[in-house]
Amino acid sequence: MLKDLLRPFVRPLPQWSPVAIAPPSRIVVAALRWDGQSVDVTSDHTVASLNPLMIATSLDAGQSPVLEYSDSATGRNLGALRLARADSIVTAEASITLYHVIAGAHRCLGWPHRSWNAWLQNRSMMKSRASSHLNMEPAAAQRLMIAYLRPRPVVLVSVNAPGHRNIFPMDLIGPLERSGLFSLALRSTNVSQPIMREVRQVALSSVPASMKAIVYKLSEHHKQPLQDWQALPFPVQASRQFGIPAVTAALQVRELSIVHSREIGLHTFFLGHIAAVENLAEGEQLHHTAGFHQAYRRRCGMPFTEV
Ligand SMILES: Cc1cc2nc3c(=O)[nH]c(=O)nc-3n(C[C@H](O)[C@H](O)[C@H](O)COP(=O)(O)O)c2cc1C
Repeated sequence: MLKDLLRPFVRPLPQWSPVAIAPPSRIVVAALRWDGQSVDVTSDHTVASLNPLMIATSLDAGQSPVLEYSDSATGRNLGALRLARADSIVTAEASITLYHVIAGAHRCLGWPHRSWNAWLQNRSMMKSRASSHLNMEPAAAQRLMIAYLRPRPVVLVSVNAPGHRNIFPMDLIGPLERSGLFSLALRSTNVSQPIMREVRQVALSSVPASMKAIVYKLSEHHKQPLQDWQALPFPVQASRQFGIPAVTAALQVRELSIVHSREIGLHTFFLGHIAAVENLAEGEQLHHTAGFHQAYRRRCGMPFTEV
């Protein structure tokens, strides 16, 4: 009992919580605010790169908008990111605006727990820096967690080209609704990144939350390609249009036709069109949200199902 009471004071909350959510979800909504305007960007913003931390949207929200996340049931503001316009990407049909994230704050924990938890998390990040996958400053990682207030669905990305096959997890993905484009932010060191730029086709399998352990294990394929589709611990079937092996047990398979790619810091930012959608099953998809968001929801008696 005493241990439970003391835990928040000595141990940081996890940065990310893997949770099960039935898609499409508007539990948390996002709005861009600038010059007295407020526009819903729940399905129109995404993370474009981690280092530097950048957000992409198909809106042009001026030089310094604020991206605000709120709980759609209660209307409560959960947190916000302050953005600064950096650049734009113009494709044949649309224009995407890129913003640097320059500041952020969340309201999921009361004071002083909020500052204390951030201090504990930052200390732990500094300690594990050498082995950390994130490769970013603690302050930027704190802002990234705010971007995860809106839970991010996890997909398995399949790539199939002559002499190269692969399947690996991604969650820095999402629709940029108004433009009709869909984006992926992939570490440029990913072994399939040059192939994706060449073949310009991938399949995205929305994975059930029950596949979490397998999905995490597949992150090794960010570094090494897959030898054989038959060697996977689950069956795959050809996607409808491109014939790329995708997860048979997926809730949904989307095929992405890539129209643009650009290196931004350590990531390659891909933009594409969804060429086909197969809805295969209903159920809860694996998502990631910020640990402090799950702690807030637990305090309110409405935690996401943790997996
Ligand atoms: C569920 C999940 C989602 C991931 N999403 C992305 C992503 O969207 N973009 C990316 O570049 N890497 C993604 N990764 C890969 C990891 O961030 C990391 O690069 C990978 O595990 C290899 O780590 P290492 O290069 O530090 O060894 C994801 C990994 C997991 C397990």
